[in-house]
Amino acid sequence: MKTSVGIEALAVALPRHTLHLEDLARARGVDPAKYIAGLGVREMAVTDPGEDTVALAATAVRRLIDSNDVDPASIGMLAVGTETGVDHSKPVASYVQGAAGLPRHMRVFDVQHACYGGTAGLMAAIEWIASGVAGGKSAVIVCSDIARYGVKTAGEPTQGAGAVAMLVSSRPELFAIDLGLNGTSSAHVFDFWRPLGRREAVVDGHYSIDCYLEALSGAYRDWRGRAEAKEIVRRAASALPSEQLAAIGYHVPFCKMAKKAHARLRRCDLDDVLGAFDEAREERESATSFERQVAGSLTLCSRVGNIYTGSLYLGFAGMLNAGAAALVGKRIGLFSYGSGCASEFFSGVVGKNAAEQIQRAHLDEVIGSRERVTVEEYERLMALQPDAPPDIPPAPGAFRFTGVKDHRREYAAG
Ligand code: HMG
Repeated sequence: MKTSVGIEALAVALPRHTLHLEDLARARGVDPAKYIAGLGVREMAVTDPGEDTVALAATAVRRLIDSNDVDPASIGMLAVGTETGVDHSKPVASYVQGAAGLPRHMRVFDVQHACYGGTAGLMAAIEWIASGVAGGKSAVIVCSDIARYGVKTAGEPTQGAGAVAMLVSSRPELFAIDLGLNGTSSAHVFDFWRPLGRREAVVDGHYSIDCYLEALSGAYRDWRGRAEAKEIVRRAASALPSEQLAAIGYHVPFCKMAKKAHARLRRCDLDDVLGAFDEAREERESATSFERQVAGSLTLCSRVGNIYTGSLYLGFAGMLNAGAAALVGKRIGLFSYGSGCASEFFSGVVGKNAAEQIQRAHLDEVIGSRERVTVEEYERLMALQPDAPPDIPPAPGAFRFTGVKDHRREYAAG
């Protein structure tokens, strides 16, 4: 019997505040078109210190459990992908287990590799279930991060924050993975990193774009070779292998990156299938191809900014929220990139109940209920000390970090 494993449900948690990039551009004396058209970002999520990685992750997990009537006893693995940990030893996942009241009998751990950490956790869960070792249990994988480059840096308009929690099981209502097809590409590079003790990342911005695109070419070609061998896609000039995917979601540090990524992916196909890059064809087809395969995945990302580990999965959520009905039963591709660097291209089929299932995440409400802040308020929030959160009661269903006592982080639930 063929094993079916993948993402059954998801939930998203975002900080309360959002900054509009046209406001930021004006305050920085930059043409707003640079941020909105040049980088493709309209808004970015802004945290206060009470909305730390744990609070965002725990809020997303509680939403996932409540909206999908998940029996906590059915969960056998809880993994958090994050590059914004709160302790050198105690993982974010451990705090989340406590906050969400999850039972004792489960594997609980964090996975770190920049923005790729969540994907590493997702694949560990999928392969754990597919192997039969899970014994019928499900896994919860959470991607939770705060992307912080600092005020008045080149990376400033590419910040953001948020968490995506995913229920992984043998009932893949949203996405059933193509087992064994994943293509990988990784290398030891210094494109982006955050040395111990620093709140802000160190980044070689333009080089990081090159590293991303290089990794994409490698991971995609690796996936394509495996997919061709299993006759999942065919090499045909009339329908390139990537065109045989109904949609493609990329890691989205800023939305323009998805456009660059899609152009690179198509170039891999055009070079390899036709033997040479056909510029005239690409000129004719690229805009339509981007609109058909990628645009839907940017609907939420363009209003949240980079959320590191969760960015790919926020893109996936946006893709389904914008048009799951048209994707039901169809194969899509997803590309995960983490600086440093590690990457993976994988594919799967959208479940037949995906349109109803994604409604349980109430994504329009999650994104629409945030408050717009001024640039002055954003700068004030950025300057607050990380361990001294303002005394604000948590919203119903949400968690907040309330401070440190005896070296222990404390949280309140709303
Ligand atoms: P920059 O140098 O300020 O921007 O920083 P730029 O000069 O390259 O301009 C950006 C785009 O705006 C360009 O478009 C300009 O032409 C355009 P492109 O040529 O690239 O298509 N532009 C305009 N468009 C319209 N009207 C105008 C205008 N002016 C300019 N008036 C950079 C940009 C992304 C480098 C910076 O924001 C940065 O360093 N960001 C952080 C790094 C990053 O996001 N890297 C992405 C790849 S690595 C990755 O994804 C991993 C990551 O998520 C971390 C992890 O894994 O944990 C970051």
